[in-house]
Amino acid sequence: GLPQQVTIYEVGPRDGLQNESAVVPVEVKAEFIHRLADAGHKVIEATSFVHPDWVPQLADAGELLAGLRRKPGVRYPVLVPNLRGLDRALELQADEIAVFASATETFAAKNLNRSLESQFEMFEPVVARALDHGLKVRAYVSMCFGDPWEGPTPIRQVVAVGERLLGLGCHELSLGDTIGVGTPGHVTALIGAFRTPERLAVHFHDTYGQALSNTLAALRAGVTTVDASTGGIGGCPYAESATGNLATEDLVWMLRGLGIETGLDLGKLVSTSVWLAELLGRPSPSRVVQALSKG
Ligand code: HMG
Ligand code: MG
Repeated sequence: GLPQQVTIYEVGPRDGLQNESAVVPVEVKAEFIHRLADAGHKVIEATSFVHPDWVPQLADAGELLAGLRRKPGVRYPVLVPNLRGLDRALELQADEIAVFASATETFAAKNLNRSLESQFEMFEPVVARALDHGLKVRAYVSMCFGDPWEGPTPIRQVVAVGERLLGLGCHELSLGDTIGVGTPGHVTALIGAFRTPERLAVHFHDTYGQALSNTLAALRAGVTTVDASTGGIGGCPYAESATGNLATEDLVWMLRGLGIETGLDLGKLVSTSVWLAELLGRPSPSRVVQALSKG
């Protein structure tokens, strides 16, 4: 069966804008987020408190959060890798954080400068302190399907990393197909290997055009939270083969057709993507945005 309701976890301002070669002005980022809230989003991942040299595109995280008009009832999680990042996020009254782990040794080194094992030493005190402060903590696992250096990722390796993060007290685990190589049968098998599918979210990059099919497989397997980026922007600067995320508009179109409620205004999302595409200087890769913005 399919769920009656799906929560869309919007990652455009973070996953999308972290990957732009041009640095987007902080006022534009704020307006993007304000528009997303106005279109009905209830969870908008706003930015990252990572090392500014590692992701210069989001070096303005503090300024952005300080100037944000937060809409009541909307959550604005931020990425935090370590205690230094958590201090910065707490100072600016972040209401929710996300830690981000790797399922593979090579990507842990490239993205976090840590080994597969030592990434947990970095996250444990972050999760503990954030929970002490009453924050919700989401956890990501990247490279859940395959990794550009190591090939396909064994399912048991993903489950081991994921269960450990849930065990720290994270309320939700987002399974990342960072480079978009997964296919629906693999999705079904991976989700089926977890004890608690209701605590999982899925995070599909659309490199091979599989994101929407993979999402449907995940919904059938009991997942009710789906990550997506308005306009389909996104990628990871530490995984060159990563392209944009599943576009929120494409997801909303499919869910609407399936009779699943999202509470999002598709017209407002499309006009936001058209507005952003003009500022970024290239069209949105979303098929739904292209179809609905013609003429
Ligand atoms: P490191 O070099 O090992 O850091 O980087 P360190 O702990 O050795 O500290 C070195 C210096 O950096 C220190 O300063 C720290 O204070 C400073 P010093 O004492 O030498 O003057 N520092 C910081 N400054 C500001 N904010 C911080 C911070 N941390 C340390 N938070 C680190 C380790 C984790 C920091 C680095 O590797 C990093 O920032 N990585 C982030 C990479 C990233 O953001 N990648 C993209 C997001 S993940 C993604 O996109 C995947 C996802 O979408 C899911 C999917 O698609 O799969 C989530
Ligand atoms: Mg991503």
